[in-house]
Amino acid sequence: MSYPNDILSRMFGGYGGGKDETLLYPKEENQVQDTAEIEEVFQTNIFNVMLNRRSHRRFEDRPIEDSKLEMIFAAADTAPTAGGFQGFEIYHVKSQDVKLRLVEAANNQPYVNAPVVLVFCMNPERVKMNFPQNIIKKFSQQDSTLAAAYSQLAAHALGLSSVWIGMINEAKVMEVLKTNLVPSSILCIGYPKKMLQPKPKRNLKDLIHQI
Ligand SMILES: Cc1cc2nc3c(=O)[nH]c(=O)nc-3n(C[C@H](O)[C@H](O)[C@H](O)COP(=O)(O)O)c2cc1C
Repeated sequence: MSYPNDILSRMFGGYGGGKDETLLYPKEENQVQDTAEIEEVFQTNIFNVMLNRRSHRRFEDRPIEDSKLEMIFAAADTAPTAGGFQGFEIYHVKSQDVKLRLVEAANNQPYVNAPVVLVFCMNPERVKMNFPQNIIKKFSQQDSTLAAAYSQLAAHALGLSSVWIGMINEAKVMEVLKTNLVPSSILCIGYPKKMLQPKPKRNLKDLIHQI
């Protein structure tokens, strides 16, 4: 299978491999990425991915492959953003100590201590547009939220599960991360202990208001 606007090439420096220091997980010189392995786990039908995703809060104690993480980050990087300024940052929390402190900052929700913990923060400074500050803030909040949503769908497409954490004490999260950027959400990702059926959603007739 070939990918014309190839998301894989963004992550692995192309099918030929080769060392590229701009990559998050640079491969060794002449190391060829086994893309077949990655393609195997792809669920490429976006509608199936959206329909079958559901929140999971119990994860296997199993690490997530770097290749999958990289795709989740690359997905976040493709999200639309206000003016294309990408007014958000992602904190990838690896430290166990920091994860436990984030549990506290998230109303003691224990599943925040997940195999992969990503904190999406707003970065209004990146949004170089001549609008009032409240609009710029709103843009960066939307940028950050969209990036998290793209990451969540990508995780599901890769056979992982996740839960979105919005119940956070922003000040505490900022203190834990030692940042002055305001967090919008935490995305907790892992291999699910048990696959769950998607939850029923609203009837489209109730959801759509035709005017
Ligand atoms: C803005 C937002 C905030 C959320 N906050 C939390 C949270 O703090 N804790 C939690 O367990 N789930 C949280 N969730 C996950 C929702 O509970 C979940 O998406 C919802 O129950 C629908 O289930 P589904 O994701 O399986 O479709 C949040 C989701 C969103 C979009």
